[in-house]
Amino acid sequence: MKTFEIAVIPGDGIGQEVVPAALQVLQAVMDVHGGLKLKFTNFPWNCDYYMEHGKMMPDDGIQTLSGFDAVFLGAVGDPSRVPDHVSLWGLLIKIRREFEQVINIRPAKYFQGLSSPLRNHNNFDFIVVRENSEGEYSEIGGRIHKGEDELAIQNAVFSRKGTERAMRYAFELAQKRRGHVTSATKSNGIVHSMPFWDDVFKDVSADYPQIKTSAIHIDALAAFFVTRPQIFDVIAASNLFGDILTDLGGAIMGSIGIAPAANINLNGKYPSMFEPVHGSAPDITGKGIANPLGQVWTAKMMLDHLGEHEIADKLLAAMEQVTASGCKTPDIGGTATTREVTDAICRTLKAVT
Ligand code: NAI
Ligand code: MG
Repeated sequence: MKTFEIAVIPGDGIGQEVVPAALQVLQAVMDVHGGLKLKFTNFPWNCDYYMEHGKMMPDDGIQTLSGFDAVFLGAVGDPSRVPDHVSLWGLLIKIRREFEQVINIRPAKYFQGLSSPLRNHNNFDFIVVRENSEGEYSEIGGRIHKGEDELAIQNAVFSRKGTERAMRYAFELAQKRRGHVTSATKSNGIVHSMPFWDDVFKDVSADYPQIKTSAIHIDALAAFFVTRPQIFDVIAASNLFGDILTDLGGAIMGSIGIAPAANINLNGKYPSMFEPVHGSAPDITGKGIANPLGQVWTAKMMLDHLGEHEIADKLLAAMEQVTASGCKTPDIGGTATTREVTDAICRTLKAVT
């Protein structure tokens, strides 16, 4: 039996509440699936650590994490004590960059028992694959002059390598899902990078003749997320387009408290990192009412990444069953505590498997 080594960083605020909840669920997963062994090692790197040591993690922190199969992170940030750019760049973003996590994936689906703000949600279920290392978020450019002659130039960087690997990831994913990839483009308005994006998309799609494709301009695509989200399976998007689409994906699900995410390393040199979309939620920290679903769904994505698809699907089904039964935290209209939802997921998982 293979033991997966998991580095656990609960971080700040509700990270300290939802990560233990997700670990309890992962323990239940191991109880029902005897063939799976996860070994958790906890790292207390957060704003408390910063107050004591003047840094978010030890100097050899990255080296320490590099030996693990995956990093499971809660949330980082305690803005009343440490400026956000210090805490996020000192831990979260540092891990993403150093570990070459060049792809960010975020699923969105209609979740039973949740009220989507969409009137016609039609059981949508899609995943956005976002290029996470280049594109519009490059540091190339600058500003010159002051006053009315002032100007700013921001260069977008699209490499064939970076574009192709994000698209390939999307096609591989679609092969395991409903077999459809949508390219988020804007080649009618952006005249160099987006026609290039379209060319690479055509080249990559030639390697996957069984996958259906479409290319939709980002403005129309964003509108379709609202009017007919059910048409999407996997969406390949550049860094900026993916950023915007994934927030919209979270919004149409109904709460940021349930949205999961994964930062994927593709070259196999470093671990990937799994973290929910939400932050440390200082406004509800310590009240015992943080929604654990985002962190638990993130755990589900980690199981998928480790190749444990069957139990991962059962876990998601158990989560939906619990939500549909009305056992929900206040952010999604219920009265249950973090602990009650967590216990219910564990019980349901054991009952369905
Ligand atoms: P936030 O996501 O922490 O909170 C936004 C709102 O959503 C709050 O009202 C909060 O109570 C609610 N919320 C979030 N997660 C929830 C959950 N699981 N259950 C119930 N309600 C939930 O974003 P905010 O307030 O802008 O940032 C707070 C701190 O978190 C800052 O320091 C920020 O930099 C950091 N942050 C960290 C992220 C990360 O670690 N990946 C991502 C976003 C923010
Ligand atoms: Mg964003």
